[in-house]
Amino acid sequence: MREPEANSVIRNICCIGAGYVGGPTMAVVADRCPLIQVKVVDINQKRIDAWNQNDLSKLPVYEPGLDLVVSRARNRNLYFSVDVQGAIAEADMVFISVNTPTKTKGLGAGKASDLRWVEACARQVANFAQGHTIVVEKSTLPVRTAEVIKTILEAAQTSHQNDSNSSTFEVLSNPEFLAEGSAIKDLEEPDRVLIGGESSEAIEALASIYKNWVPEQKILRTNIWSSELAKLTANAFLAQRISSINSIGALCEATGADVREVARAIGTDSRIGSKFLDAGPGFGGSCFKKDILNLVYLSRHFGLPEVADFWEGVVELNTWHQHRISRLVVKKLFGTLSGKRVAILGFAFKANTNDTRETSAINIAKDLLDEGALLSIHDPKVAPAQIALDLGLEEMKPSKSFGSKSSGTSNEGTWWFSEEISEVCSGADAILILTEWYQYSQINWIEISKNMRNPAWVFDARSIVNSEKVLSAGLQFWRVGDGSAEVR
Ligand code: UDX
Ligand code: ADP
Repeated sequence: MREPEANSVIRNICCIGAGYVGGPTMAVVADRCPLIQVKVVDINQKRIDAWNQNDLSKLPVYEPGLDLVVSRARNRNLYFSVDVQGAIAEADMVFISVNTPTKTKGLGAGKASDLRWVEACARQVANFAQGHTIVVEKSTLPVRTAEVIKTILEAAQTSHQNDSNSSTFEVLSNPEFLAEGSAIKDLEEPDRVLIGGESSEAIEALASIYKNWVPEQKILRTNIWSSELAKLTANAFLAQRISSINSIGALCEATGADVREVARAIGTDSRIGSKFLDAGPGFGGSCFKKDILNLVYLSRHFGLPEVADFWEGVVELNTWHQHRISRLVVKKLFGTLSGKRVAILGFAFKANTNDTRETSAINIAKDLLDEGALLSIHDPKVAPAQIALDLGLEEMKPSKSFGSKSSGTSNEGTWWFSEEISEVCSGADAILILTEWYQYSQINWIEISKNMRNPAWVFDARSIVNSEKVLSAGLQFWRVGDGSAEVR
């Protein structure tokens, strides 16, 4: 492989994609590297406008601490723009940070990632880059995507061979390990930074950026395929832990054990570790399911059906667990939700994010709507318009009597949103906590119970409320993974 002629000092970065990964990642890079000009570009004008607006509480991505980082770097050396071509042309390094959802049709549908946006980016880089450009895969991508990008870039190189300003490229994989809700901390103090590539000069050029704030021993260098596969594997292992603990939670409920106690006991084994053992409503987020399905697709493609089945089981368990929770709610409410009010607290896939991609709330809410429930939904950061998109159903604001203790059947299978917890809970037959937002752990159950319709239930799918306080308010209580007598 050819070594690049370029010197390794990076002065201009372009990041294509101003989403949950590109936006926060580049904000931290710009904040920590004031000498580097960072341009984040996106085809979505509305998103770019939102990144540029003065009110930092309205950035398109909600992440604790992001507003401060953006306020320090924006318009100093961090810029958000729709000028994709201009930013690519100026850049020494281009990060590809676009969406890679699972394909919905064609070859690999339901499993393989849809690479159309990555491919479009590679073509844009091939067309507009000047001189030597290092292209960095940041999006979560299936293994061997770098090859696709390389092929497109090399084709451009060959066709421009005789041009005066012919461009050259190097491709690196630099997977993102940030978790939403703690993205800024994860970026500022990463467990590790992984860089995969063939050219040591390109690898060191990228490493030199991270060295501005990441200790050298945390920067791992590897080959490109191992880097890509490490990202999928990390997410698959993490997701597998969630399915494991949720499966044990179901067994705890059946046997009288408490999954929190089981997790505490196994978590003290240093080989297992105590993190990522919280039973919940099932994992959501843009990465876990997609990455596992990618592994499944790859394994089948390479003739390893047993490996594929093993990982597919992790996703199947998660889906089963989500439906198990909705079935359980129906069962506890005497087998029917027809005309009953259920308050859903939390729609984001986890706390401290406004992201709803693959959130368990979607499957659970749809099940409850199918059963004829009238849902009232609260989330401190998710907008009702997003919930309407996710449920494929417009919000139906209640008539005055709807918010009171009496429920009617005319609103069966509908939902409405309120920014007030007390309002969504008023008149409800049941409250279902799906996201571990701090404010839900602080609810005054005595007050809430006064306006619920008896016999009223609290279903805590995140294990965040104090059971004694719920029970002493005269409410019935279920907690995920807890089979102890007090909660039955
Ligand atoms: C994940 C990986 O953690 C991150 O390294 C990668 O870069 C992207 O994918 P993210 O999806 O943002 O990050 O969130 P994460 O904290 O991993 O949570 C994923 C899901 O698992 C959430 O729905 C969360 O609520 C759930 N979860 C997590 C549990 O149910 N229990 C736990 O103990 C931990
Ligand atoms: P992630 O969680 O991976 O960051 P998002 O969906 O939040 O994913 O963000 C990806 C962003 O990439 C979107 O804002 C989308 O408009 C943008 N995007 C997709 N394709 C292109 C492209 N060819 N050029 C510029 N931006 C793109």
